[in-house]
Amino acid sequence: MKAYRAAILRFDDEHRPVYELDGMLVVGPDAHGRRVVRAVGDHAALAGRFPGVAVEDLRGRLIAPGFVDMHIHYPQTDVIGAPAAGLLPWLEHYTFPHEARFNEEGHAREVAAFFFDELQRHGVTTALTFATSHPASVTAAFQEAQARGLRFITGKVLQDRHSPDGVRDETEQSLIDTEALIRRWHGVDRLGYAITPRFAPTSSPEQLRGAGELAEKYSDVWIQSHVAENVDEVKWVAELFPHARSYLGVYADAGLLRERAVYAHCIHFDATDRALMRETGAAAAISPSSNLFLGSGFFDYAAADDAGMRYGLASDVGGGTSFSPFHTMLAAYYVGRAGQHKTGVSLTPGQLWWQHTAGAARALGLDGVVGNLQPGYEADFVVLDPKATPLLARKTAQANSLDELLFALIVLGDDRVVERVHTA
Ligand code: GUN
Ligand code: ZN
Repeated sequence: MKAYRAAILRFDDEHRPVYELDGMLVVGPDAHGRRVVRAVGDHAALAGRFPGVAVEDLRGRLIAPGFVDMHIHYPQTDVIGAPAAGLLPWLEHYTFPHEARFNEEGHAREVAAFFFDELQRHGVTTALTFATSHPASVTAAFQEAQARGLRFITGKVLQDRHSPDGVRDETEQSLIDTEALIRRWHGVDRLGYAITPRFAPTSSPEQLRGAGELAEKYSDVWIQSHVAENVDEVKWVAELFPHARSYLGVYADAGLLRERAVYAHCIHFDATDRALMRETGAAAAISPSSNLFLGSGFFDYAAADDAGMRYGLASDVGGGTSFSPFHTMLAAYYVGRAGQHKTGVSLTPGQLWWQHTAGAARALGLDGVVGNLQPGYEADFVVLDPKATPLLARKTAQANSLDELLFALIVLGDDRVVERVHTA
Protein backbone atom coordinates (compact mmCIF):
# COMPACT_ATOMS: atom_id res chain seq x y z
CA MET A 1 0.00 0.00 0.00
CA LYS A 2 1.01 3.56 -0.56
CA ALA A 3 -0.56 6.90 0.34
CA TYR A 4 -0.36 10.39 -1.12
CA ARG A 5 -1.03 13.65 0.74
CA ALA A 6 -2.25 16.46 -1.54
CA ALA A 7 -5.34 18.38 -2.53
CA ILE A 8 -7.71 15.81 -4.06
CA LEU A 9 -10.51 16.17 -6.60
CA ARG A 10 -13.10 13.45 -7.19
CA PHE A 11 -16.85 13.25 -7.92
CA ASP A 12 -19.91 12.11 -5.97
CA ASP A 13 -22.85 10.09 -7.32
CA GLU A 14 -24.65 13.30 -8.30
CA HIS A 15 -21.68 14.22 -10.54
CA ARG A 16 -20.66 17.03 -8.21
CA PRO A 17 -16.98 17.69 -7.53
CA VAL A 18 -15.72 16.73 -4.06
CA TYR A 19 -12.56 18.53 -2.99
CA GLU A 20 -10.21 18.09 -0.08
CA LEU A 21 -7.64 20.82 0.32
CA ASP A 22 -5.53 18.60 2.61
CA GLY A 23 -6.51 15.17 1.35
CA MET A 24 -5.13 11.65 1.43
CA LEU A 25 -5.35 8.97 -1.24
CA VAL A 26 -4.49 5.40 -0.25
CA VAL A 27 -3.86 2.88 -3.02
CA GLY A 28 -3.13 -0.81 -2.80
CA PRO A 29 -3.73 -4.13 -4.51
CA ASP A 30 -7.21 -5.61 -4.74
CA ALA A 31 -7.97 -9.37 -4.69
CA HIS A 32 -6.68 -9.65 -8.28
CA GLY A 33 -3.46 -7.76 -7.56
CA ARG A 34 -4.58 -4.63 -9.41
CA ARG A 35 -3.78 -1.29 -7.78
CA VAL A 36 -7.04 0.31 -6.67
CA VAL A 37 -8.14 3.16 -4.44
CA ARG A 38 -8.38 1.75 -0.90
CA ALA A 39 -9.40 4.97 0.84
CA VAL A 40 -9.70 8.66 0.08
CA GLY A 41 -10.68 11.70 2.11
CA ASP A 42 -9.46 14.30 4.52
CA HIS A 43 -5.90 13.66 5.67
CA ALA A 44 -6.56 14.35 9.36
CA ALA A 45 -9.51 11.93 9.34
CA LEU A 46 -7.73 9.13 7.44
CA ALA A 47 -4.08 9.22 8.52
CA GLY A 48 -4.64 7.30 11.77
CA ARG A 49 -6.34 4.41 9.96
CA PHE A 50 -3.24 3.47 7.97
CA PRO A 51 -0.31 3.25 10.40
CA GLY A 52 2.89 2.06 8.75
CA VAL A 53 1.78 3.00 5.24
CA ALA A 54 4.31 5.27 3.55
CA VAL A 55 2.83 8.68 2.77
CA GLU A 56 4.31 10.76 -0.03
CA ASP A 57 3.94 14.43 0.74
CA LEU A 58 2.58 16.22 -2.34
CA ARG A 59 1.10 19.26 -0.61
CA GLY A 60 0.73 22.12 -3.08
CA ARG A 61 -0.25 19.64 -5.80
CA LEU A 62 -3.71 18.50 -6.92
CA ILE A 63 -4.46 14.80 -7.37
CA ALA A 64 -7.35 14.14 -9.77
CA PRO A 65 -8.70 11.16 -11.74
CA GLY A 66 -6.81 10.36 -14.95
CA PHE A 67 -8.63 11.88 -17.91
CA VAL A 68 -10.78 9.68 -20.17
CA ASP A 69 -10.84 10.54 -23.88
CA MET A 70 -13.97 9.07 -25.44
CA HIS A 71 -12.96 9.43 -29.07
CA ILE A 72 -9.54 9.85 -30.66
CA HIS A 73 -7.74 8.54 -33.76
CA TYR A 74 -4.19 7.45 -32.99
CA PRO A 75 -3.30 7.22 -36.72
CA GLN A 76 -4.24 10.90 -37.08
CA THR A 77 -1.52 12.10 -34.72
CA ASP A 78 0.24 13.65 -37.73
CA VAL A 79 -3.00 15.06 -39.20
CA ILE A 80 -3.60 17.66 -36.44
CA GLY A 81 -3.92 21.15 -37.87
CA ALA A 82 -4.75 20.20 -41.47
CA PRO A 83 -7.10 22.92 -42.72
CA ALA A 84 -9.96 22.02 -45.07
CA ALA A 85 -13.29 23.39 -46.16
CA GLY A 86 -15.06 20.76 -44.09
CA LEU A 87 -15.14 17.12 -43.03
CA LEU A 88 -15.38 15.41 -46.43
CA PRO A 89 -12.49 17.22 -48.17
CA TRP A 90 -10.45 16.89 -44.98
CA LEU A 91 -10.91 13.10 -45.08
CA GLU A 92 -10.04 12.92 -48.77
CA HIS A 93 -7.00 15.21 -48.84
CA TYR A 94 -5.32 14.54 -45.50
CA THR A 95 -6.79 11.72 -43.47
CA PHE A 96 -7.09 8.85 -45.92
CA PRO A 97 -3.57 9.38 -47.37
CA HIS A 98 -2.11 9.38 -43.83
CA GLU A 99 -4.06 6.32 -42.76
CA ALA A 100 -3.00 4.37 -45.86
CA ARG A 101 0.51 4.10 -44.37
CA PHE A 102 -0.69 1.99 -41.46
CA ASN A 103 -0.48 -1.23 -43.43
CA GLU A 104 3.25 -0.99 -42.55
CA GLU A 105 3.56 -2.45 -39.08
CA GLY A 106 6.74 -0.50 -38.31
CA HIS A 107 5.04 2.79 -39.08
CA ALA A 108 1.99 1.86 -36.97
CA ARG A 109 4.21 0.91 -34.05
CA GLU A 110 6.23 4.13 -34.21
CA VAL A 111 3.11 6.32 -34.30
CA ALA A 112 1.41 4.27 -31.56
CA ALA A 113 4.41 4.67 -29.24
CA PHE A 114 4.45 8.44 -29.81
CA PHE A 115 0.68 8.60 -29.35
CA PHE A 116 0.77 6.86 -25.96
CA ASP A 117 3.65 9.05 -24.80
CA GLU A 118 1.57 12.05 -25.76
CA LEU A 119 -1.56 10.77 -23.95
CA GLN A 120 0.54 10.27 -20.84
CA ARG A 121 2.12 13.73 -21.00
CA HIS A 122 -1.38 15.19 -21.13
CA GLY A 123 -2.78 13.09 -18.28
CA VAL A 124 -5.08 10.87 -20.36
CA THR A 125 -5.13 7.36 -18.89
CA THR A 126 -7.99 5.77 -20.86
CA ALA A 127 -8.97 6.35 -24.48
CA LEU A 128 -11.49 4.86 -26.89
CA THR A 129 -9.46 5.04 -30.07
CA PHE A 130 -9.87 4.49 -33.78
CA ALA A 131 -7.09 2.49 -35.46
CA THR A 132 -7.17 2.19 -39.30
CA SER A 133 -8.65 -0.46 -41.58
CA HIS A 134 -5.41 -2.46 -41.35
CA PRO A 135 -5.39 -5.19 -38.69
CA ALA A 136 -1.69 -4.47 -38.05
CA SER A 137 -2.66 -1.00 -36.81
CA VAL A 138 -4.81 -2.59 -34.10
CA THR A 139 -2.13 -5.05 -33.02
CA ALA A 140 0.44 -2.24 -32.76
CA ALA A 141 -1.84 -0.14 -30.55
CA PHE A 142 -2.85 -3.00 -28.26
CA GLN A 143 0.76 -4.11 -27.81
CA GLU A 144 1.88 -0.60 -26.88
CA ALA A 145 -1.06 -0.11 -24.49
CA GLN A 146 -0.49 -3.51 -22.89
CA ALA A 147 3.20 -2.77 -22.32
CA ARG A 148 2.16 0.43 -20.51
CA GLY A 149 -0.56 -1.29 -18.44
CA LEU A 150 -3.29 1.01 -19.74
CA ARG A 151 -7.05 0.56 -19.78
CA PHE A 152 -7.49 1.11 -23.48
CA ILE A 153 -10.01 0.32 -26.23
CA THR A 154 -9.52 0.25 -29.99
CA GLY A 155 -10.64 -1.59 -33.12
CA LYS A 156 -10.08 -2.11 -36.82
CA VAL A 157 -11.88 0.47 -38.94
CA LEU A 158 -14.53 -0.99 -41.27
CA GLN A 159 -14.80 0.89 -44.59
CA ASP A 160 -15.60 -1.19 -47.67
CA ARG A 161 -16.85 1.57 -50.02
CA HIS A 162 -16.41 5.22 -50.98
CA SER A 163 -12.84 4.96 -49.77
CA PRO A 164 -9.65 5.12 -51.84
CA ASP A 165 -7.25 2.26 -52.49
CA GLY A 166 -5.01 1.78 -49.50
CA VAL A 167 -7.69 2.22 -46.84
CA ARG A 168 -10.71 0.43 -48.36
CA ASP A 169 -11.28 -3.07 -46.98
CA GLU A 170 -13.28 -6.03 -48.26
CA THR A 171 -16.67 -6.80 -46.71
CA GLU A 172 -16.32 -10.45 -45.75
CA GLN A 173 -12.63 -10.31 -44.81
CA SER A 174 -13.18 -7.18 -42.71
CA LEU A 175 -15.67 -9.04 -40.52
CA ILE A 176 -13.43 -12.11 -40.26
CA ASP A 177 -10.55 -9.85 -39.20
CA THR A 178 -12.76 -8.07 -36.66
CA GLU A 179 -13.84 -11.31 -35.02
CA ALA A 180 -10.27 -12.62 -34.89
CA LEU A 181 -9.11 -9.39 -33.22
CA ILE A 182 -11.98 -9.54 -30.69
CA ARG A 183 -10.95 -13.07 -29.73
CA ARG A 184 -7.29 -12.16 -29.52
CA TRP A 185 -7.54 -8.93 -27.53
CA HIS A 186 -10.89 -8.22 -25.86
CA GLY A 187 -10.59 -8.60 -22.09
CA VAL A 188 -6.84 -9.28 -22.14
CA ASP A 189 -5.31 -7.38 -19.21
CA ARG A 190 -6.98 -3.93 -19.29
CA LEU A 191 -7.69 -3.98 -23.05
CA GLY A 192 -11.06 -3.88 -24.79
CA TYR A 193 -12.15 -4.19 -28.41
CA ALA A 194 -14.45 -1.79 -30.26
CA ILE A 195 -16.29 -2.77 -33.46
CA THR A 196 -15.48 0.28 -35.60
CA PRO A 197 -17.47 1.10 -38.73
CA ARG A 198 -15.89 4.42 -39.81
CA PHE A 199 -19.26 6.08 -40.63
CA ALA A 200 -22.32 5.15 -42.65
CA PRO A 201 -21.09 6.58 -46.02
CA THR A 202 -18.03 4.31 -46.13
CA SER A 203 -19.70 1.04 -45.16
CA SER A 204 -22.01 -1.00 -47.35
CA PRO A 205 -25.30 -2.07 -45.76
CA GLU A 206 -23.85 -5.62 -45.68
CA GLN A 207 -20.80 -4.49 -43.71
CA LEU A 208 -22.96 -2.56 -41.24
CA ARG A 209 -25.23 -5.57 -40.79
CA GLY A 210 -22.21 -7.83 -40.23
CA ALA A 211 -20.90 -5.39 -37.65
CA GLY A 212 -24.29 -5.45 -35.93
CA GLU A 213 -24.26 -9.25 -35.86
CA LEU A 214 -20.82 -9.24 -34.22
CA ALA A 215 -22.06 -6.62 -31.73
CA GLU A 216 -24.87 -8.96 -30.75
CA LYS A 217 -22.65 -12.02 -30.52
CA TYR A 218 -20.00 -10.20 -28.44
CA SER A 219 -22.27 -8.13 -26.25
CA ASP A 220 -19.59 -6.66 -24.00
CA VAL A 221 -17.34 -5.32 -26.75
CA TRP A 222 -17.66 -1.67 -27.61
CA ILE A 223 -19.00 -0.13 -30.84
CA GLN A 224 -17.66 3.20 -32.10
CA SER A 225 -18.47 5.35 -35.10
CA HIS A 226 -19.29 8.90 -36.20
CA VAL A 227 -22.75 10.38 -36.69
CA ALA A 228 -24.37 13.68 -37.68
CA GLU A 229 -21.15 15.67 -37.68
CA ASN A 230 -21.41 17.80 -40.81
CA VAL A 231 -24.30 18.98 -43.02
CA ASP A 232 -22.82 17.65 -46.29
CA GLU A 233 -22.22 14.29 -44.64
CA VAL A 234 -25.80 14.17 -43.35
CA LYS A 235 -27.11 14.94 -46.86
CA TRP A 236 -24.94 12.18 -48.36
CA VAL A 237 -26.23 9.62 -45.85
CA ALA A 238 -29.83 10.55 -46.70
CA GLU A 239 -29.06 9.81 -50.38
CA LEU A 240 -27.26 6.54 -49.63
CA PHE A 241 -29.89 5.24 -47.19
CA PRO A 242 -33.21 6.65 -48.44
CA HIS A 243 -35.25 4.30 -46.27
CA ALA A 244 -33.58 5.15 -42.97
CA ARG A 245 -35.49 7.48 -40.63
CA SER A 246 -32.36 9.53 -40.04
CA TYR A 247 -28.56 9.20 -40.04
CA LEU A 248 -28.68 7.64 -36.57
CA GLY A 249 -31.49 5.41 -37.88
CA VAL A 250 -28.97 3.74 -40.25
CA TYR A 251 -27.05 2.46 -37.23
CA ALA A 252 -30.26 1.52 -35.42
CA ASP A 253 -31.37 -0.54 -38.44
CA ALA A 254 -28.02 -2.39 -38.43
CA GLY A 255 -28.22 -3.30 -34.73
CA LEU A 256 -25.45 -0.89 -33.78
CA LEU A 257 -27.17 1.04 -31.00
CA ARG A 258 -26.80 -0.37 -27.53
CA GLU A 259 -24.90 0.17 -24.27
CA ARG A 260 -21.18 0.58 -24.98
CA ALA A 261 -21.93 2.07 -28.42
CA VAL A 262 -20.17 5.42 -28.66
CA TYR A 263 -20.98 7.89 -31.44
CA ALA A 264 -18.76 10.89 -32.04
CA HIS A 265 -20.33 14.32 -32.65
CA CYS A 266 -24.16 13.84 -32.57
CA ILE A 267 -24.63 17.46 -33.68
CA HIS A 268 -27.31 17.42 -36.39
CA PHE A 269 -29.84 15.38 -34.41
CA ASP A 270 -33.58 15.74 -33.88
CA ALA A 271 -35.60 14.89 -30.78
CA THR A 272 -36.28 11.34 -32.00
CA ASP A 273 -32.55 10.71 -32.47
CA ARG A 274 -31.82 11.92 -28.96
CA ALA A 275 -34.59 9.78 -27.50
CA LEU A 276 -33.19 6.77 -29.37
CA MET A 277 -29.75 7.40 -27.86
CA ARG A 278 -31.24 7.39 -24.37
CA GLU A 279 -33.49 4.36 -24.93
CA THR A 280 -30.67 2.25 -26.32
CA GLY A 281 -28.00 3.38 -23.84
CA ALA A 282 -25.70 4.59 -26.62
CA ALA A 283 -23.45 7.52 -25.74
CA ALA A 284 -22.23 10.67 -27.48
CA ALA A 285 -18.53 11.56 -27.62
CA ILE A 286 -18.61 15.35 -27.75
CA SER A 287 -15.60 16.62 -29.68
CA PRO A 288 -15.71 20.41 -29.41
CA SER A 289 -12.23 21.34 -30.65
CA SER A 290 -12.78 19.19 -33.74
CA ASN A 291 -16.22 20.66 -34.35
CA LEU A 292 -14.87 24.20 -34.09
CA PHE A 293 -11.80 23.44 -36.25
CA LEU A 294 -13.71 21.70 -39.06
CA GLY A 295 -16.68 24.08 -38.81
CA SER A 296 -19.03 21.16 -38.15
CA GLY A 297 -21.39 22.83 -35.68
CA PHE A 298 -22.19 22.98 -31.97
CA PHE A 299 -23.26 20.08 -29.78
CA ASP A 300 -26.59 20.97 -28.14
CA TYR A 301 -26.03 20.33 -24.43
CA ALA A 302 -29.47 21.53 -23.37
CA ALA A 303 -31.31 19.23 -25.80
CA ALA A 304 -29.07 16.30 -24.81
CA ASP A 305 -29.83 16.91 -21.13
CA ASP A 306 -33.56 17.23 -21.79
CA ALA A 307 -33.45 13.88 -23.62
CA GLY A 308 -31.38 12.22 -20.88
CA MET A 309 -28.61 11.24 -23.28
CA ARG A 310 -25.30 9.94 -22.01
CA TYR A 311 -22.25 11.86 -23.12
CA GLY A 312 -18.65 12.76 -22.35
CA LEU A 313 -15.75 14.67 -23.83
CA ALA A 314 -13.30 13.68 -26.52
CA SER A 315 -10.36 15.26 -28.34
CA ASP A 316 -11.07 13.67 -31.75
CA VAL A 317 -7.43 14.16 -32.72
CA GLY A 318 -6.64 14.72 -35.63
CA GLY A 319 -9.89 16.59 -36.45
CA GLY A 320 -9.45 17.90 -32.92
CA THR A 321 -6.63 20.33 -32.33
CA SER A 322 -5.03 19.07 -29.12
CA PHE A 323 -4.35 16.03 -26.95
CA SER A 324 -4.89 18.27 -23.92
CA PRO A 325 -8.02 17.67 -21.83
CA PHE A 326 -7.69 21.28 -20.68
CA HIS A 327 -8.00 22.51 -24.26
CA THR A 328 -10.95 20.19 -24.88
CA MET A 329 -12.75 21.37 -21.73
CA LEU A 330 -12.20 24.99 -22.74
CA ALA A 331 -13.56 24.31 -26.23
CA ALA A 332 -16.61 22.65 -24.61
CA TYR A 333 -17.10 25.78 -22.54
CA TYR A 334 -17.15 27.87 -25.74
CA VAL A 335 -19.62 25.43 -27.32
CA GLY A 336 -21.77 25.50 -24.19
CA ARG A 337 -22.03 29.26 -24.50
CA ALA A 338 -23.87 28.81 -27.80
CA GLY A 339 -26.73 26.95 -26.10
CA GLN A 340 -29.60 27.73 -23.80
CA HIS A 341 -28.87 27.44 -20.09
CA LYS A 342 -31.15 27.43 -17.14
CA THR A 343 -28.29 28.56 -14.89
CA GLY A 344 -25.20 30.49 -15.82
CA VAL A 345 -23.74 31.28 -19.20
CA SER A 346 -22.32 27.87 -20.06
CA LEU A 347 -21.12 24.73 -18.32
CA THR A 348 -19.52 24.96 -14.89
CA PRO A 349 -15.88 23.90 -14.47
CA GLY A 350 -17.07 20.95 -12.35
CA GLN A 351 -19.36 19.80 -15.16
CA LEU A 352 -16.60 20.15 -17.74
CA TRP A 353 -14.13 18.21 -15.60
CA TRP A 354 -16.73 15.48 -14.87
CA GLN A 355 -17.42 15.07 -18.58
CA HIS A 356 -13.74 14.31 -19.20
CA THR A 357 -13.33 11.89 -16.25
CA ALA A 358 -16.17 10.18 -14.36
CA GLY A 359 -18.81 11.18 -16.93
CA ALA A 360 -16.78 9.89 -19.85
CA ALA A 361 -16.10 6.63 -18.01
CA ARG A 362 -19.79 6.24 -17.22
CA ALA A 363 -20.70 6.86 -20.86
CA LEU A 364 -18.22 4.13 -21.81
CA GLY A 365 -19.80 1.68 -19.35
CA LEU A 366 -16.70 1.90 -17.12
CA ASP A 367 -18.51 3.33 -14.12
CA GLY A 368 -16.89 1.99 -10.96
CA VAL A 369 -13.72 1.10 -12.89
CA VAL A 370 -11.93 4.30 -13.97
CA GLY A 371 -12.58 8.04 -14.14
CA ASN A 372 -13.03 8.66 -10.42
CA LEU A 373 -11.12 8.26 -7.16
CA GLN A 374 -13.64 6.52 -4.95
CA PRO A 375 -12.74 3.28 -3.11
CA GLY A 376 -12.50 0.33 -5.49
CA TYR A 377 -11.69 2.36 -8.60
CA GLU A 378 -8.54 1.44 -10.47
CA ALA A 379 -5.80 3.80 -9.35
CA ASP A 380 -5.34 5.86 -12.53
CA PHE A 381 -4.64 9.40 -11.41
CA VAL A 382 -2.78 12.56 -12.27
CA VAL A 383 -0.70 14.85 -10.08
CA LEU A 384 -1.28 18.41 -11.24
CA ASP A 385 0.83 21.48 -10.44
CA PRO A 386 -1.47 24.51 -10.12
CA LYS A 387 1.65 26.74 -10.23
CA ALA A 388 3.08 25.24 -13.43
CA THR A 389 3.42 28.60 -15.19
CA PRO A 390 3.91 32.12 -13.80
CA LEU A 391 0.40 33.14 -14.82
CA LEU A 392 -1.17 29.98 -13.36
CA ALA A 393 0.73 30.47 -10.11
CA ARG A 394 -0.53 34.05 -9.90
CA LYS A 395 -4.08 33.14 -10.87
CA THR A 396 -4.54 30.00 -8.73
CA ALA A 397 -3.09 31.80 -5.69
CA GLN A 398 -6.04 34.20 -5.96
CA ALA A 399 -8.70 31.49 -6.36
CA ASN A 400 -11.40 31.92 -3.73
CA SER A 401 -13.39 28.82 -4.55
CA LEU A 402 -13.06 25.41 -6.17
CA ASP A 403 -14.80 26.78 -9.29
CA GLU A 404 -12.20 29.53 -9.58
CA LEU A 405 -9.34 27.05 -9.17
CA LEU A 406 -10.74 24.63 -11.77
CA PHE A 407 -11.55 27.45 -14.18
CA ALA A 408 -7.98 28.77 -13.94
CA LEU A 409 -6.66 25.29 -14.80
CA ILE A 410 -9.15 24.78 -17.66
CA VAL A 411 -8.48 28.16 -19.25
CA LEU A 412 -4.71 28.40 -18.69
CA GLY A 413 -3.67 24.75 -18.31
CA ASP A 414 -1.99 22.34 -20.70
CA ASP A 415 0.60 19.54 -20.49
CA ARG A 416 2.85 21.73 -18.31
CA VAL A 417 0.33 21.29 -15.49
CA VAL A 418 0.58 17.48 -15.58
CA GLU A 419 3.48 16.69 -13.31
CA ARG A 420 2.99 12.94 -13.05
CA VAL A 421 0.62 10.19 -14.13
CA HIS A 422 0.00 6.99 -12.15
CA THR A 423 -1.72 3.97 -13.68
CA ALA A 424 -3.09 0.95 -11.84
N1 GUN B 1 -16.08 10.78 -40.13
C1 GUN B 1 -15.56 9.69 -40.74
N2 GUN B 1 -14.26 9.56 -40.49
C2 GUN B 1 -13.93 10.58 -39.68
C3 GUN B 1 -12.71 10.97 -39.07
O1 GUN B 1 -11.66 10.36 -39.22
N3 GUN B 1 -12.77 12.09 -38.29
C4 GUN B 1 -13.91 12.78 -38.10
N4 GUN B 1 -13.89 13.85 -37.30
N5 GUN B 1 -15.07 12.44 -38.66
C5 GUN B 1 -15.07 11.34 -39.45
ZN1 ZN C 1 -13.41 10.93 -35.11
